[in-house]
Amino acid sequence: MIRVKKIAHASYEMPDVEKQIEYYTEILGLTLTERDKDAAYLASTVDHHSVVLRNGAQARCTRIGFQIGQDDDLGEFERQVQGHGIKTQRKNDTEPTIRQMVTFEDPKGTVMEVFKRDDFSGQRFPTKGIVPHKLGHVAFHVTDVKNVTKYYCDVLGFRVSDWMGDFFSFLRCGPDHHTINLMETGSNRHFHTAFELRDWGHMQTACDYLSVNGYKLLWGPGRHGIGHNLFAYHRAPNGLITELFAELDRMNEDLGYFEPRPWHRDRPQKPKVWEKDPSASNLWGILPGEEMMK
Ligand SMILES: [Fe+2]
Repeated sequence: MIRVKKIAHASYEMPDVEKQIEYYTEILGLTLTERDKDAAYLASTVDHHSVVLRNGAQARCTRIGFQIGQDDDLGEFERQVQGHGIKTQRKNDTEPTIRQMVTFEDPKGTVMEVFKRDDFSGQRFPTKGIVPHKLGHVAFHVTDVKNVTKYYCDVLGFRVSDWMGDFFSFLRCGPDHHTINLMETGSNRHFHTAFELRDWGHMQTACDYLSVNGYKLLWGPGRHGIGHNLFAYHRAPNGLITELFAELDRMNEDLGYFEPRPWHRDRPQKPKVWEKDPSASNLWGILPGEEMMK
């Protein structure tokens, strides 16, 4: 099967796009690469955009872009999706630097935009703001975690990295422990969007920078059990939660275990079902407040 190889971008709607552009450029440190009457495009390095902002009545994540490989055939991928009884659309030149994409909906109504990256956009890392390495993952609340997890694996080629009990799945499409994670809570909506930082030092700088600019942390810093990443969460101006993370587990696909780290409890650390235990969410012990679930 043709599997998607990486998350390329996430698209959001919100009432006040200007405020969110200011947050992404001044605070997070992404570059505004293009602006048209429909959308604002933001990115950090070789991709033209990793975040797309559009006007809408309420803040929500509407679409996620995934890249397939240079040698993969988009038509073959489309037939593979249709083979699951899913209706697809082929779109040309709807987003800058993406000539052709196949779009279809996942079971919770988020639009998947799958494409081959033809043109790289060689902007540099900015020098102002937090400046993450990349968009790392998008997490969702879902009503039916089993169904949506199966969809991402069967249709897009994701692999399960871990489960927490039977209600929270962590899925990868490359070496990173998770690119999509799904938590069953009774509604279908965005949970958080995560950007990768360099290391613990970068995390400290980022938390201080957020604080100086009036952003308070919702939870963290801490170290997750599942994925073992350092984390710190805050709320963006549009009300959606941003996670900053570092040191996320990376899978050696050929050997079937995550690269060993001193903070692992399993040797080797392999995909598994974690018990619903506080250490699965924070090895350092401090649990999230109610604000995280809003
Ligand atoms: Fe996360």
